Amino acid sequence: MPSILVTGACGQIGSELVPALRARYGHDAVVATDLEGRIEGSHLEGPLRALDCTHIREIEHVVRHHAIEVIYHLAGLLSAVAEARPRAAWDVNMGGLYRILEVAREHGASVFFPSSIGAFGPSTPHDATPQVTIQRPNTIYGITKLSGELLCDYYAQQYGLDTRGLRLPGIISHVAPPGGGTTDYAVDMFHHAVEGGRYTCFLRGDSCLDMMYMPDALRAMMALMDADRERLEHRNAYNITAMSFTPQRLADEIRKHISEFHIDYEVDPVRQAIADSWPNSLDDSAARQEWGWRPQWDIETMTRDMLEHVRNKRAGS
Ligand code: SER
Repeated sequence: MPSILVTGACGQIGSELVPALRARYGHDAVVATDLEGRIEGSHLEGPLRALDCTHIREIEHVVRHHAIEVIYHLAGLLSAVAEARPRAAWDVNMGGLYRILEVAREHGASVFFPSSIGAFGPSTPHDATPQVTIQRPNTIYGITKLSGELLCDYYAQQYGLDTRGLRLPGIISHVAPPGGGTTDYAVDMFHHAVEGGRYTCFLRGDSCLDMMYMPDALRAMMALMDADRERLEHRNAYNITAMSFTPQRLADEIRKHISEFHIDYEVDPVRQAIADSWPNSLDDSAARQEWGWRPQWDIETMTRDMLEHVRNKRAGS
């Protein structure tokens, strides 16, 4: 059983990845960490401890104390927050990753890095975006994600460190809210549809982006970390996708279940510019070939399941 560290454990992905890893490897095998202010009030149980990834001594202490062998480094600022706080984005997204890699190198731990569709930019081919293509992101978020991919590759080549990454699309989920991403409109839309039947979207109705339901994202992360190292030609980082749609298309899908649902648009120029610079749809054939990636959820099944969970949550609160 590997001993696993998850950073950013109280965030949207960590809140579900930690229980999934614990179900698989045992409760005590997974050390969940996040900033002190975020672990207070978290639904996660122990081992749960405070860790600021910009402090290398704190990382070293946790890795040594728990004899960590695998690190899922999820701590980071999402795209819209990063644009509002570029210095913090650099410190956390780049500085945190660099320190994680340094400690992993010392201790021989493997590292999962969540790259993003944000690692692409306006000059990237937007349709069926290839695995290997032009990457000139023009957001601080995208710059940290692309630099993160390169840094992970560097540690793999120079030090033989087992680093692996995914270019995650927008993640749709109902357990923990996302925090300041451009793709978060999709999650917001479900909550507003159930609560009041109306949603004002901050992106244009025709903005097409890749998306994925959380169960697929969790399977993808664990499958990549399980994969045979020899087969991973594009280890940092793989394009993956499950569906790609526009706000208008998602609203139409929701309307199949809530016929009176109404959407209107108040475009936020900052987030619209971010969305416009990202692909419409990724080609994920390298992930399919090298480690058997296959999504299980599409827009129809995801929408049905999301609405059921959001309704249940609302009924229970
Ligand atoms: N969901 C992320 C964001 O919008 C994309 O990686 O920031």
